[in-house]
Amino acid sequence: MMNLDENNITEEVVRRIENTPDKRLKEIMTALVKNLHTFAREIRLTEAEWMKGVEFLTKTGQISDEVRQEMILLSDTLGLSQLVVAQNHSRPQGATEQTVFGPFHVEGARTLPAHGADIGGEAVGDPLWVTARITDLDGRAVSDTLVDVWQADSAGFYDVQDTDWKLDDAELRAVVKTDAEGRFSFRSVMPSSYPIPMDGPVGQMMRATNRHPMRPAHIHFMVRKAGFDTLVTHVFADGDAYLDSDAVFGVRSSCIGNYIRHEPGVTPDGTNSENPFYTLDYVFKLVRSEK
Ligand code: BEZ
Ligand code: FE
Repeated sequence: MMNLDENNITEEVVRRIENTPDKRLKEIMTALVKNLHTFAREIRLTEAEWMKGVEFLTKTGQISDEVRQEMILLSDTLGLSQLVVAQNHSRPQGATEQTVFGPFHVEGARTLPAHGADIGGEAVGDPLWVTARITDLDGRAVSDTLVDVWQADSAGFYDVQDTDWKLDDAELRAVVKTDAEGRFSFRSVMPSSYPIPMDGPVGQMMRATNRHPMRPAHIHFMVRKAGFDTLVTHVFADGDAYLDSDAVFGVRSSCIGNYIRHEPGVTPDGTNSENPFYTLDYVFKLVRSEK
C-alpha cells in the first residue's frame, strides 16, 4: 500500500509481518508494532524526541558488554525485568519469591564446601555469618543443591566493577553445594545499600526523572536443583531505608531476612570478634516443577 498516513500505517506494518513463520515471533512483533505506534500517537512524539530516544538506546547498547549490562539495567529501572519475573514465576503461598537477576552475576565462580567457607576474602565490612537451609514447600530438606551467592561489599561495590577484574580475583561470590540436609553456611561481610551504576545513559535517565539510584542492602542467591523451579532471589536487610523504593523494584516482603547485629564477642565459628558482627539465618522454599 502507498500513501500511508498516521492513521493507517500501523495496519500496513502489521500486514507485512503476517507471514512470519514462527507463530510466537509473529505475535510478539505484531504487539510490539501496535504498542510502539500507540505510544508515539499518544504522546505525539516529535522528530527531535524520536532522535533523542534513538541516541539514548544507541548509547545504552554501545556501553554494554558481558560485564557492563546497561541494557539489562535499563529494563530493571523501567520495572520491565521485575514485571517479566513476576508473570513467569507466580508461586504458591509459602514459596520463596523470585526477584530480578541483576547485572552482576558471573558464571563460573569457585565452588566452595557446604560449610565453613569465607567468601569475603579481602573485602572490608562487618563480618557476617550466614546459615541457610533449602526445603520444599512441606519443609522437607532438598539435599545436594547448587547455590550461587553474590553480593556487593560494604561500600556497595561488586568485584566485577573493578576495571581489570578477572574471574580469578572473584570476591564476595561463590557456588556452594548444600549438604544432605539442604543446609549451607558461609562467612562474608554485611552488605549495605548501594546505588546502581549511574555513570551511563541509565544514570542520565534516573537524574532527568528525579529518581534516587539506591538498592536496599541484600545478598543474591540462585538455587538450582533438578525437579524444582530454579530460584533467583535476594535476601534483603530488614529495616533498610530503601526497602520501599528499590531503584529496580525487586523487593518482596517474603525476601526480607533477619540480619541480626551482635556486640563484640564470640562469633558463630568460635573466634572472638573485637567488632560488632552480624548473623543471618534463612530458609529458601522451593517449588517442584516438571522440567
Ligand atoms: C543488583 O542488585 O545487583 C542490581 C540489580 C539490578 C540492577 C542493578 C543492580
Ligand atoms: Fe545486588
